[in-house]
Amino acid sequence: MEIIIKENGSVASEAAARVVARLVREKPNAVIGLATGSTPLVLYKEMIRLHKEEGLDFSQVSTFNLDEYIGLEKDHEQSYHKFMWDNLFSHINIKPENVHIPDGMAVDVPAFCAEYERKIVEAGGIDLQVLGIGSDGHVGFNEPTSSFASRTRIKTLTQQTVADNARFFAGDESKVPHHCITMGIGTIMDARMNIMLAFGEGKAEAIAATVEGPVSSMMPASILQHHPSAKVFIDEGAASTLK
Ligand code: F6R
Repeated sequence: MEIIIKENGSVASEAAARVVARLVREKPNAVIGLATGSTPLVLYKEMIRLHKEEGLDFSQVSTFNLDEYIGLEKDHEQSYHKFMWDNLFSHINIKPENVHIPDGMAVDVPAFCAEYERKIVEAGGIDLQVLGIGSDGHVGFNEPTSSFASRTRIKTLTQQTVADNARFFAGDESKVPHHCITMGIGTIMDARMNIMLAFGEGKAEAIAATVEGPVSSMMPASILQHHPSAKVFIDEGAASTLK
């Protein structure tokens, strides 16, 4: 695990964007795993800038998103589909057919999840996975106690995650979906490289436990200690309780 501490989230995000850009230049048909939430917003802005100003070409890139809420239509204001198109895909030259995001309205969820895993394999596996981290240590929506061997599946959000994400639903916890489809920890660990971003003191305890604590399914992100190529980009706030 490589820990990269920068003075603020913007500088850390720009450093992470350089890792993405290097991959895309070296492997134009790279397969990239993506996250949503507030953390990767500056990373995505920087990827857009690199595309518009430096010609970074996404025309052969494929993407697989980590997760989606169950029960939200693709055009719902808070769906991860809408988030990704608004904050990244509409601004780069990615082909819509190369974008993969779990379908929160899937009728047969287990079949959808098996197919999602099959598509990742068919694409050649994920070269680089972008991750955020929940304040309870979740990656994707793999909440504490998730199996390290898990694959894409339905999960129930913890009360902590519902409370954390209520800020996107006008502060109303009752509007936050309670279930999601998420890549599993096994899926994430299969990515050839993982880059995690975490900013602010609110993430400090989760980051300290992830980086310095024991590897435990109670802190799902801690499994990245066993990943052969994991980089953690953090700001001083998120680094504030590291030893
Ligand atoms: C989102 C995801 C989640 C978030 C995490 C942090 O696709 O996989 O694990 O990365 O909940 O969210 P923010 O960045 O909003 O603090």
